[in-house]
Amino acid sequence: PFDWYAEMRAEDPVRFDEQREMWDIFRYEDVDRVLKDHDAFTARRTREDNEFSSDAEDDTGMLQTMITVDPPEHNRLRGFVDERFQPGSIREYQPRVEAVTEDVLDALAGKEQFDFVDEFAIPFPVTVIAELLGIPAERRDQFKAWSDALIARPKNGTQTEIQRIQQERQQARQEMSGYFTKLVAERRGGDGDDFITLAANTEELSREEKVGFCILLLLAGNITTTNLLTNAIWSLEEQGLTDAVRTGAIDRKQVVEEVLRYRSPVQSLNRIAIADVELNGKQIQAGDVVTLWLGAANRDPEIFDAPEEFRPEQRPNRHMAFGMGVHFCLGAHLARMEADVAMQQLLERFDRLDANLSNLDPLYSLYGLKSLPCEVNRTA
Ligand code: HEM
Repeated sequence: PFDWYAEMRAEDPVRFDEQREMWDIFRYEDVDRVLKDHDAFTARRTREDNEFSSDAEDDTGMLQTMITVDPPEHNRLRGFVDERFQPGSIREYQPRVEAVTEDVLDALAGKEQFDFVDEFAIPFPVTVIAELLGIPAERRDQFKAWSDALIARPKNGTQTEIQRIQQERQQARQEMSGYFTKLVAERRGGDGDDFITLAANTEELSREEKVGFCILLLLAGNITTTNLLTNAIWSLEEQGLTDAVRTGAIDRKQVVEEVLRYRSPVQSLNRIAIADVELNGKQIQAGDVVTLWLGAANRDPEIFDAPEEFRPEQRPNRHMAFGMGVHFCLGAHLARMEADVAMQQLLERFDRLDANLSNLDPLYSLYGLKSLPCEVNRTA
């Protein structure tokens, strides 16, 4: 999509797509402005919820969560948990994330070839979230199956397949809601430091909202992190930088930020105008849907030098991969830490990754790869 973004940024940075009947917004400054202006652009999505929208239900299939409400309601739904996702608190989870990384890597023991996506980048974030939610070890497989069902996408697109996926998703949601409802009730008054106990003990949220929060963590935090990890290995191997990161010649944290900018896992976000607004000379009307292309903003030459190049060490990185404004990703610091720990341990464990980049099959809705075969050498 990157050539298209460049063309649009230069020629038609705020344009109405007649086919999709939506606006597309490509420049950094414009995307930034829309995300920060929650009085003119709402994050609400559902039909009941937004007089203008005809979209289907909220992704959690139930009550609203923080991601689809505006201030001041947004603050009620996010405030109770914000502190726990700040860098200081997230650092306390690091030893547990390291232990999860070791477990997932141990499962690869003895293999000389594996698919990085299926065998590392998918199971790793799911297991981290299960750990932080305090899902007991014996339920982890079930938990993984539910989260797979929630994120499943059709492969061949036949009507039967789509129906099956929808049914399975619906069932997984119901089972999960039941499971989280039970855990939230059990943990009320408890003193555990897991996110379910945290939600259980807040007075701010209704019981359904607590369950919605737990499901939101799964929906928002898994494929995004899977794609960040995949895009990191993809980019390092493509640029021939894997060894430089292994030896510390290039800083891992800067690599993570540059991957977020260069191959942003979330390429676009939507908002709905609730006021008439002029943007870059175009008149957007209340009720219009706007698509904000984070992936295009993250390569805007007004903001970044040589934006089409992967340069981890050479930029103040103000990328928008985690969004902007009040909905700025709650899990940003967690995702950064996960990526840092995962890269460190992977590169320690294997002195050669040899990703096969010859047949890449990119996914564009959430930007990543379907698979990334690697051939590895284990360090002695
Ligand atoms: C929101 C990206 C990982 C939880 C967002 C938004 C983006 C984003 C762009 C803004 C959505 C909007 O404005 O409409 C990412 C990326 C990730 C990642 C690229 C990984 C590389 C995570 C993780 C978690 C998480 C690990 C949780 C464990 C959330 C939540 C929100 C959010 C709860 C909603 C925040 C709000 O509405 O106030 N994320 N995310 N994300 N993310 Fe992430």
